[in-house]
Amino acid sequence: MRTVAEAWQAGREHLTALGIEEAAVTAEVLLRHALDLNRTQFHIAVNQPVPDGAWARYLGYIGERARGRPLAYIVGHREFMGLDLLVDERVLIPRPETEVLVETVLELLRGTTSPVVADIGTGSGAIAVSVAVLRPDARVVATDLSCEALEVARANATRHGVAERIIFLAGDLLDPVVGGGWRLDAVACNPPYVAAEAAAGLPREIREFEPKLAVVAPGYGESVHARLVDAAPGVLRPGGWLVLEVAAGQAPRVVELLNKRADYEAVQTRRDGLGWERVVAARWATGDCCAGIDGGR
Ligand SMILES: C[S@@+](CC[C@H](N)C(=O)[O-])C[C@H]1O[C@@H](n2cnc3c(N)ncnc32)[C@H](O)[C@@H]1O
Repeated sequence: MRTVAEAWQAGREHLTALGIEEAAVTAEVLLRHALDLNRTQFHIAVNQPVPDGAWARYLGYIGERARGRPLAYIVGHREFMGLDLLVDERVLIPRPETEVLVETVLELLRGTTSPVVADIGTGSGAIAVSVAVLRPDARVVATDLSCEALEVARANATRHGVAERIIFLAGDLLDPVVGGGWRLDAVACNPPYVAAEAAAGLPREIREFEPKLAVVAPGYGESVHARLVDAAPGVLRPGGWLVLEVAAGQAPRVVELLNKRADYEAVQTRRDGLGWERVVAARWATGDCCAGIDGGR
């Protein structure tokens, strides 16, 4: 029977030979998943034998990864903003750059008590759940066109004890919110932003495994951003923020969309760890005279 160290090495070598990135970490994560061990337990167990059942599961996981299935889907979770989130093929795997969006929302709402925030296209609930966890006085409305995604988001909200402060609504962008009497302090969205014509050039892991609805924008890359720029004033309170994630290189076009309109001000961007402008934010400057006093939260 192989030891844990031998099994790890075999997996590492197999994945390296196939050109899989981060083969050592991937093999460790898959072996830990097969053995149901945390990192500390794993490193203590290196000289222990791997039972047959765990070995078979490990080989299965290695095979799935070799076929391109993302690691997060195989193990069923991904860390985001320090939270362990459940993920599967119903939702996009939350990305580190989306943490910049969450940090921007938190920063812009620092002076607002009991903020009400919308997370449009919530997917796994990464944005909604982390805002609710990190701002215990916040309430969140999370929407998605995909009812399957909303099931995952709900499970994550329950897992992190914030389900009572998040309302989940199915529908197209802001449609489920419009008419609901909401006056939001922020509308946050990480929309699909790959142009339809560029979808064929996406890495295989994304193209074949992540939901197309989550990745590919209808028509051109900024089409969803443009719809949100138009629609957000209908649900923001005056002074409320629209906060959008963008693809690398897309920020100037989204900034232009906002600057073209007289009713947004304080248009600004935030950069990700690689230096790309990844988040565009703007404040809704004007509204009708009653928009802020209807108490409609
Ligand atoms: C890029 S993913 C973002 C998921 C999650 N917010 C995150 O940051 O990890 C985009 C999400 O928007 C949803 N979506 C796409 N088009 C939509 C639409 N027209 N209305 C509502 N949700 C939409 C997708 O189902 C997907 O969950």
